[in-house]
Amino acid sequence: MRQLIGLAAAVPALVAGIVAVQAPSTAQTAPAAGAQAFAACRACHTLNKGGRNGVGPNLNGVFGRPAGSVAGFNYSPAMKASGLKWDEKTLNEFIAAPMKKVPGTRMPIGVADPAKRAALIAYLKAETAK
Ligand code: HEC
Repeated sequence: MRQLIGLAAAVPALVAGIVAVQAPSTAQTAPAAGAQAFAACRACHTLNKGGRNGVGPNLNGVFGRPAGSVAGFNYSPAMKASGLKWDEKTLNEFIAAPMKKVPGTRMPIGVADPAKRAALIAYLKAETAK
């Protein structure tokens, strides 16, 4: 029992220590949050140049690209006909609610949390330009 109390006291101290270590590097926490948010996308998308198409298309160079334009990827008719060009605004809207922005899209999931989405888009901007 005494050990348990000791542990209970140690945990908040440990957490405070971790927060203190991370606090000065805010510049590093945003990409980390973006990378974490991309975990939900990784199963279907690659970001690297020449990366393979999976269930979803390779996203390298996605900023400034017309929607539905990766060669060799079998897009839905809805995506091909969307007339969208990907930039921060259109990506933000699409990722918030894919089916709403492009009714009939084959992309099944989005990210509802605006903060997570912002981190994700910043991460995509950096990683898809490499
Ligand atoms: C279950 C697989 C899957 C997951 C998970 C997924 N996507 Fe997709 N994504 C797709 C498919 C399939 C398409 C093509 C949709 C179509 O043709 O209608 C697509 C299309 C896209 C496009 C448009 C690409 C283009 O070339 O026009 C973007 C951008 C995108 N996804 C980003 C994301 C992001 C960011 C996430 C994570 C939040 C994500 N996707 C998660 C399957 C997925």
